Amino acid sequence: TNTQHQYRSESALGQNPLSCRTLSTRRELYERDFPVYKQPVEVGCFSLDSERRFFNDSRQMRYYVEPDRNPNFNLRDGYRDRFIKRDDSVKERLDHILRWIVANKSKINPTGAAASPRALDVDFVTWRGHLTKLLTTPYETREGWLLAVTRFRGTFYISEVETEAAHRERENRTERHEEMMYWGYKFEQYTCADNTHSLPDPGGVVNTNEAFCTVVQTRLADHRLLFSGEVDCRDKDPKAPAAPACYVELKTSAEICTPKQRSNFHRFKLLKWWAQSFLPGVPRVVAGFRDQEGVVVSVETFHISKISHLIKNEYNCWKPTVCMNFCCDFLSFVKRVVTEDSHRVVYLFSWDPYKDVTYSAHRDSQYCFLPHWYVEEMTR
Ligand code: A3P
Ligand code: MG
Ligand code: MG
Repeated sequence: TNTQHQYRSESALGQNPLSCRTLSTRRELYERDFPVYKQPVEVGCFSLDSERRFFNDSRQMRYYVEPDRNPNFNLRDGYRDRFIKRDDSVKERLDHILRWIVANKSKINPTGAAASPRALDVDFVTWRGHLTKLLTTPYETREGWLLAVTRFRGTFYISEVETEAAHRERENRTERHEEMMYWGYKFEQYTCADNTHSLPDPGGVVNTNEAFCTVVQTRLADHRLLFSGEVDCRDKDPKAPAAPACYVELKTSAEICTPKQRSNFHRFKLLKWWAQSFLPGVPRVVAGFRDQEGVVVSVETFHISKISHLIKNEYNCWKPTVCMNFCCDFLSFVKRVVTEDSHRVVYLFSWDPYKDVTYSAHRDSQYCFLPHWYVEEMTR
C-alpha cells in the first residue's frame, strides 16, 4: 500500500510527473490519510456596513435566536419593498482582507517586519470561499473556476476571476432565481438579532452589503494559511466558547419529502455546507427547510463534526479526505508553479469539470489584483 500511495501522489501531476504543467482532479488520486489541518485560530475580524464600507471591528456581528419548533417564516416577504441588494458586478477581489492586513500587521508578524525578510509570516492569503471551491473541486460537475495567484514578498495571494460561464449566468438570471437568492438572507433576518438582549426584526430592510467577517490562521500540511470568511451570527450566550467555536452558519434548503431528495441533500448540499464551515472552524449549521412557496416549515441543527458520519451510508458519496488532500496538493502545485515574486505578475489557474487544472502567466495584465496602496504599505 505504501508503493501504491507514492504512485498515486505522483500521478496526480498530469501525464508526465516531471513537467508539472497540469494537476488532475480525479477523486481516486486523493484517497489517502486525512492531512494535518490545525484548529483554525481567529486572529481578527472586520465589518462591511450598509454601503459596503470597511471597519476594523465587529460592529456587524449578529446574535442567533433559536426559532420556534414550528416556524412559519415567509421568505418571500419584503423582496419587492424591503431589499437592498449588493451590486455583484463590483469586483472587490482581496481588497477588504488586504485592508485588514495593513491595519493589523503586528498581529500576524509577531517577530516584526524588521526581523523577518518576508512581509507576512504566512504562505497563502485568500477568501474562505475560494478555498471552499478548491475543497469541492473533485466532486464538482457543473461549474469550473479561475483563480489568479500573485507571489509577493514570499506570500501567495489567491483571488478569484469570474469565468465566462459565471458572467453569462449572472447577467441572465431568471426572476425566480433572483428572488430565491434573497430567501437565504431573509432567513438570517428571522433568526438574528443585532445585540444579545434584542429580538430579530422581520419588518426591517434586508441589505446584503452588510457583512461580518472573521480572519483566521491555520495550517494545512506545510501550508500556512490566512483567510477571511463571512460569518452569519454567533451564540448569544456570553459563556459560549471563544470564536470561531461560537459561530453559527445559517442555511436554507428545500424541504425533504422523499428518499431521493434526502440522498441528494447528503451528496450535494452537505458537501458544500461541510466545506464552507469546516475551513474556518465553525462548528454548526442551522438549516431552515422551506416548502414550494418559500415558507420555512422546520429548522434543524447540523454539527459539522457529525456530517461525515451522516453521509457514510450514501452510495458513491463524497469524502472529506479527498477534499482536503486535493486542496493541499493544489497549494503545493501553486508553490511549484508560481516562481516569480512580483506584484506585476499573475499566474491564472483554470479548471473545468472533467478536466485537469492548467495555468498561464500574465505580466502587467488586466488580472493584476494587488492594489498600489497595499504594495507600497508592505514594501516600506
Ligand atoms: P442559502 O445558502 O441559505 O440559500 P451563506 O449561506 O453563505 O451565508 O449565504 C447567504 C445567502 O446568500 C444564501 O443563503 C443564498 O441565498 C445567497 N447565496 C450565497 N452564495 C450564493 C451563490 N453562489 N449563488 C446564489 N446565491 C447565493
Ligand atoms: Mg453568510
Ligand atoms: Mg449562511
